Amino acid sequence: MNEKKVSRFYDVVWTEYIPEYQKSEEHWRLFYSPDEVKGKRILDAGCGTGIFSIIFARHGADEVIGLDISAGSLTTARKLKENFNLNNVDFHQADMLHLPFPEESFDVVWAWGTVHHTIDPWRAMEELIRVLKPGGSILLAVYTKTKITFIHEIIRKLLIRTPRITWQPLSKIMAFFLWPVVAIFKKREKSRQGEKLEELILDWYFVPIRHHYYPQEIKSFLEKKGFTIEKFLPASGRFDSTSNFIYKARK
Ligand SMILES: C[S@@+](CC[C@H](N)C(=O)[O-])C[C@H]1O[C@@H](n2cnc3c(N)ncnc32)[C@H](O)[C@@H]1O
Repeated sequence: MNEKKVSRFYDVVWTEYIPEYQKSEEHWRLFYSPDEVKGKRILDAGCGTGIFSIIFARHGADEVIGLDISAGSLTTARKLKENFNLNNVDFHQADMLHLPFPEESFDVVWAWGTVHHTIDPWRAMEELIRVLKPGGSILLAVYTKTKITFIHEIIRKLLIRTPRITWQPLSKIMAFFLWPVVAIFKKREKSRQGEKLEELILDWYFVPIRHHYYPQEIKSFLEKKGFTIEKFLPASGRFDSTSNFIYKARK
């Protein structure tokens, strides 16, 4: 039921939004190189509109599977695949809590900004680990818990009680009042290219499920599962956002 709400939400919020290619590739290069993915099988779990699947596919991966629960986002991802004229990437609609793949079937599992939107992020991570081959690597970008997370959560939990029809107008009103603050702190109105502040607000405050973690919690989890941490970025979400931390770890 909750997962249905998430997929319906992303059918509306991210359907048209394709993160900027160049910036996404720069970010991808912080973690992977063409040498590391050449000939490999990749799972982009919670691929959204598919930008990272495309990047893996363009850098020599043998096969990329972009998986998402939102049919709307996947429609855009498939169009993107056509635009790039790629035949080594496919998009599937599925729930990452029940991955439709056998154990140890991927060399790389990439989950950027996704496990924290599932009802059970620990179970989602267990699933991602299950399908990863020994020696393979996993990348997790997860929302950071801070001292003021509870304030954001109170606001979000109040806002998601309002009728759905008001969500977009409310985001616009909030963006109208918040943009000067964002402009001062971020020195620009748009935090991400191609995505307006009102869309960021919609994604941040109206998403039905959102969990936050301390980096140490994810690190301990990965280490208990026998992973070696290869890279950690403490506050480096895509496009200067400080809302995520990122781990790359090897099985
Ligand atoms: C913030 S978006 C990130 C999209 C993409 N990873 C990117 O960075 O461009 C989160 C995505 O996770 C997907 N998602 C959330 N819960 C999911 C689940 N249980 N199974 C599969 N995908 C899920 C959403 O539909 C959405 O597309």
